[in-house]
Amino acid sequence: MSIHELLQRRVWVAPMAGGTTTVALVSAACESGGFGLLAAGYKPADEVRAQIDELRELGAHPIGVNVFARQQAAPDAAALDRYAERLAPVADRLGVELGAPRHDDDEFDAKIDLLVAERPDLVTFTFGMPSAAEAERLQQAGVLVGLTVTSAEEATAAMALSPDLLIAQASAAGGHRGSHRLDPKPGDESLAQLLRDTVSLGVPIVAAGGIMTATDVQDALDAGASAVSCGTAFLLADEAGTSKAHRAALTSSDFSSTVVTRAFTGRWARALENEWARAETDAPAGYPEVHFLTKGIRGAAAAAHDLQWAHLWAGQGWKSARQGSAAEIMTGLRGVAR
Ligand SMILES: Cc1cc2nc3c(=O)[nH]c(=O)nc-3n(C[C@H](O)[C@H](O)[C@H](O)COP(=O)(O)O)c2cc1C
Repeated sequence: MSIHELLQRRVWVAPMAGGTTTVALVSAACESGGFGLLAAGYKPADEVRAQIDELRELGAHPIGVNVFARQQAAPDAAALDRYAERLAPVADRLGVELGAPRHDDDEFDAKIDLLVAERPDLVTFTFGMPSAAEAERLQQAGVLVGLTVTSAEEATAAMALSPDLLIAQASAAGGHRGSHRLDPKPGDESLAQLLRDTVSLGVPIVAAGGIMTATDVQDALDAGASAVSCGTAFLLADEAGTSKAHRAALTSSDFSSTVVTRAFTGRWARALENEWARAETDAPAGYPEVHFLTKGIRGAAAAAHDLQWAHLWAGQGWKSARQGSAAEIMTGLRGVAR
């Protein structure tokens, strides 16, 4: 599919790794005239292949896959140890072991090989970029390449790889920031500012971060975006894999704000502000080390419905998230005029 055809689909369901993105959600997005990407993050390459096969069997088209870029190793092992000591009582209370804070590359090389062979229509990257040679391999296989950027500087750096599009992710976005580095904490650039910084770069921009209504969609398109990517707006979709605890938190009046924290995974991410985020404003950098360290606590807390010790990813617009089918949410976002 050409970039022109792909961008006819104005509203995209953002990739949401960790169980939220399901084949059913992506397929419903594509069927309803929008677009959705599979989230390859945290998954072995074989599982990504199986999801692509499933989508193809369902006749879903176009096919998009989002990949986590390789990460630098955690800079401060002593800080990880101190964090583990502080979390030990929480793990004890929940009856789980803390995980070993190991590093891995999320099977990056195997995923590139898989995607070159499978040739989906679009592959996007977050948390950094592939090498120029990897981006070129994909493009030569006929795959469009998209790079996530969170600042003007990242956008300029990304352009050196000649991407087919950029995803401009603003500070309001839910979940992990797509920043290319672990540090410093990403800025709080608004979507309007980020679009001003990127639309003149000469490549299509997909706007992300805080887009919750048809008016938000239109504002982003009017500001020069070619399409929009919405995550939080689909967290309560029937087809999303959002956990029961997460759904309960998103609809609860117990939460009044979101916060950008690295307490949960060692990488800056926006979540509902709970006790864990308040207690650990100085959590160490280190992704995926901290992710593996805290995984047991997060899973046990969600299972026990302990919303103060679960990671509850949410963008700033979470109060506007609607329940319903993905098609209904998509229709609401596209508005009557489109
Ligand atoms: C639960 C959740 C998981 C996410 N996982 C990913 C991911 O795997 N890859 C990615 O590029 N972005 C991920 N994001 C960010 C979204 O792709 C998107 O940029 C963001 O949701 C847009 O902002 P919004 O939440 O305000 O719509 C995630 C967001 C959420 C809420």
